[in-house]
Amino acid sequence: MSKTKTSFFCQNCGSQSLKWIGKCPGCGEWNTYAEEIIERDKDQKWSRQSERRQSKSILINEIKYELESRKDTNNAELNRVLGGGLVPGSLILVGGEPGIGKSTLMLQIALYIKNCKVLYVSGEESEQQIKMRAERVGLSNNACYIFTATSTQEIFQQIAEITPELIVIDSIQTLQTNIIDASAGSISQIKECAAEMQRYAKLTGTPVFLIGHITKDGSLAGPKLLEHMVDTVLQFEGDRNYGYRILRSVKNRFGSTSELGIYEMQGNGLREVSNPSEILLSQRDENLSGTAIAATIEGMRPMLIETQSLVSSAAYGTPQRSSTGFETKRLGMLLAVLEKRHGFRLGVKDVFLNIAGGIRVDDPAIDLAVICSILSSNEDIAISAKDCFAAEVGLSGEIRPVNRVDQRIAEADKLGFDRIFISKYNLKGLDLSKFNIEIIAVSNVEQVFAKLFG
Ligand code: TYD
Ligand code: MG
Repeated sequence: MSKTKTSFFCQNCGSQSLKWIGKCPGCGEWNTYAEEIIERDKDQKWSRQSERRQSKSILINEIKYELESRKDTNNAELNRVLGGGLVPGSLILVGGEPGIGKSTLMLQIALYIKNCKVLYVSGEESEQQIKMRAERVGLSNNACYIFTATSTQEIFQQIAEITPELIVIDSIQTLQTNIIDASAGSISQIKECAAEMQRYAKLTGTPVFLIGHITKDGSLAGPKLLEHMVDTVLQFEGDRNYGYRILRSVKNRFGSTSELGIYEMQGNGLREVSNPSEILLSQRDENLSGTAIAATIEGMRPMLIETQSLVSSAAYGTPQRSSTGFETKRLGMLLAVLEKRHGFRLGVKDVFLNIAGGIRVDDPAIDLAVICSILSSNEDIAISAKDCFAAEVGLSGEIRPVNRVDQRIAEADKLGFDRIFISKYNLKGLDLSKFNIEIIAVSNVEQVFAKLFG
């Protein structure tokens, strides 16, 4: 028996140290080091042997590769997020909160993909549970194998037997390799198991999906290091109380990270949402104060989204500010702009903001709609459901231009809106003749206020 070897790992970024240290030199966090056993058994280094194969450098002109070798996942939203399909040998991490639908999404892909032998490894659910889920989503596939295991050695044996063309691991945190003695889910286990999967993927050209859990603060558990190792990081998010789910690409070695896929969780699995504006259209009926519609662009697609605000006199001493789907700090900034630059007395009011559909919006073009919904609630005057907004608001209260404004206008036009408010600085080079919608160019909040409530 060799001596047990231990080492200390930062639970935040995965840095390693021989002794305990208070502040991680890697990420600067305090008190994140924990001791983990890393004893390596000499006989079981088989998975490392691949590293020692004969290799030499090669001229870049002599490297052969096939263009368009991406595999179609038969799921348009996933293809879009991946940048046009699955790249052979890629390692893809899918992260998300518990219960958001990661297992459902991956099982659906495994069952729906065409002409592809799939191995779905689950360390979290039993075979019966997976079968029940497959029945629920109403799909079956003759070439999808289910394997419930957590040991990577067992998994690689199965892989050798089945030779799958696609592997799904649910989840990376349950995997365990006996090269390392630490418990499943610890940093050193996650690191080693992901490394084994990565070696396999690169060596054989098999794409591998890893499902990863997310910690309370929203980052992937054990993860900065995982994010470095994998080719693509996809984030599956949404509000569990609503049906809509967004698959966002956070890192992608083979495509753009601005793309996103939209799904709706239904009783029988996830449905692809190919026309994102339906999120809005399904919920728009009567004229109520406190709502305004933003013409946003997520990825390459324009999407009209409803923002809702409630402004009321503060019930307690300190006014509350709360928002879902929009950054609270940015809400604070917009309120400060309204207060300081335009004299609206919002400092003594509670302000609640909500983005309809339970989705999160990053596009700064939503600012103007947020401000208008707040003013509408404050004045208790409804904004017409035929008005929409697309502009950023700056610190001095100026209405700033946004990118691809013509696409936003075209979408609003297509959906039958009567008016769209944009920044005056967006007018340059814009061909207005092709739109039926009335375009209102503004340069400050007063002008918008006068148009809407004046
Ligand atoms: P799941 O895929 O188990 O989430 P994760 O793997 O991310 O933890 O999804 C679980 C949730 O999805 C659960 O609350 C039930 C719901 N669900 C549906 O609404 N419809 C369905 O068809 C399925 C399979 C699940
Ligand atoms: Mg799951």
